[in-house]
Amino acid sequence: MTQSSVAAANDTGSAAAGPTAGTADLLRRRYATLGSRSPLFYSTPLEVVSGSGVWLTDADGEVYLDAYNNVPHVGHANPVVAAAVSEQMARLNLHTRYLNDRVVDYAEALLATFDAPLDRAFLTNSGSESNDLALRIARQHTGNTGVLVSDWSYHGNTGRLAELTTGLATGEGLAPYVRTLHIPDAAGVGDESALLAESLSEVDTAIASLVEAGHGLAAVVFDPLFSTEGLVSPPSGYVEGLAARVHAAGGLVLSDEVQSGFGRTGGRMWGYQMFDIEPDLVVLGKPMGNGHPLSALVTTARLQDEFGARNDYFNTFAGSPVSAAAGMAVLQVMAEENLLERSAQLGHYVSERLHEIVAGNPRVAAVRGRGLYFGLEFVDPADPTVPDAAATRWVVEDMRCRKVLISRIGPAGNVLKMRPPLVVTRSEIDILLGRLASSLEALPAG
Ligand SMILES: Cc1ncc(COP(=O)(O)O)c(C=O)c1O
Repeated sequence: MTQSSVAAANDTGSAAAGPTAGTADLLRRRYATLGSRSPLFYSTPLEVVSGSGVWLTDADGEVYLDAYNNVPHVGHANPVVAAAVSEQMARLNLHTRYLNDRVVDYAEALLATFDAPLDRAFLTNSGSESNDLALRIARQHTGNTGVLVSDWSYHGNTGRLAELTTGLATGEGLAPYVRTLHIPDAAGVGDESALLAESLSEVDTAIASLVEAGHGLAAVVFDPLFSTEGLVSPPSGYVEGLAARVHAAGGLVLSDEVQSGFGRTGGRMWGYQMFDIEPDLVVLGKPMGNGHPLSALVTTARLQDEFGARNDYFNTFAGSPVSAAAGMAVLQVMAEENLLERSAQLGHYVSERLHEIVAGNPRVAAVRGRGLYFGLEFVDPADPTVPDAAATRWVVEDMRCRKVLISRIGPAGNVLKMRPPLVVTRSEIDILLGRLASSLEALPAG
């Protein structure tokens, strides 16, 4: 029996059983060591013991279709990545103050996927670290401190980034040098021009406020998919208008590609390529090493050299030959399996099928997303302006019972978050969508 057929046979849709004695004990030990607030998914947490492709197996031998995780980009336990990492680990692993061809080969291969003038990289360990470094560069380059960020977003967990986090709780609160933007949503809007003008005027006001307060503008930071925001789709011209205004004010444009990079948006390598913009700083993460901690900040020679002239920047673990081997193996599998083209084709297919599935369903206001990052927005059928987080949560839990892992996003938590490893096949997508359709049919009246 293949894993797909095992999983197909597993579509019970029944309520999740409570944890087994073994899982309950592990949970207790986790709380006792990592703390009870270290987040876990699901009302009954899932204990996962192995993975392959888009499939995960839990401690009871149950098999789940993983439609949530974008880090295992080329599949869980990908053998090409595992072999490259272990071969290099057995040969040599050390930091970047020695020459090593694997690291340079990888930097060349990665940078070849970017548009000019983005031709330099800093290799780091996490998206947080890259965003933090990008803000240092922006501040030093501009002499300003002000940052624009969306009003429901997440860019990382360093102290500086906590001060501009709007989509998760942080004790720091927003820093005085931060202004937030509400990302306009053009879904269902006929004539977008008024929305565009109004939201760009909000950008002008935010920049003026930073200047007036003496902060000036160092950078705008945004995720091209606006995923934490609930996969909103701004009116056409918004991102271009935002970037133009930031540049005109002397600031830098930081495209945070931790979610949207490596082909996730379908058919293109980088999310910023959906728009007619030239970012100055591009941050990569999650899928980059298929789970090996590998991230990068890609920028221009001018900005990198300017920063290098003022700062002795060194990083112990980042950019090691083992990291480079992981990153190179991801690029290799992406090319061999034609994943950019596949993500475009499957993205279109998913979008069409989702529209069919929810046609006439008053509880779903919109199909959201691009490429292989997609969602459904749930609302109260009696008043479609009221988000229905309870229905969304129910579907996430029900899908887990149907052995499909998904989650939810957005300020109201009413948008399903589906983002399978990019190696997902059409038949696996069909399993996901079939079970989603069954779950929607089973969704109790609100
Ligand atoms: C858009 C975005 N940027 C940055 C980060 C932070 O990346 P990391 O967890 O690797 O530090 C995340 C993590 O979820 C993210 O979604």
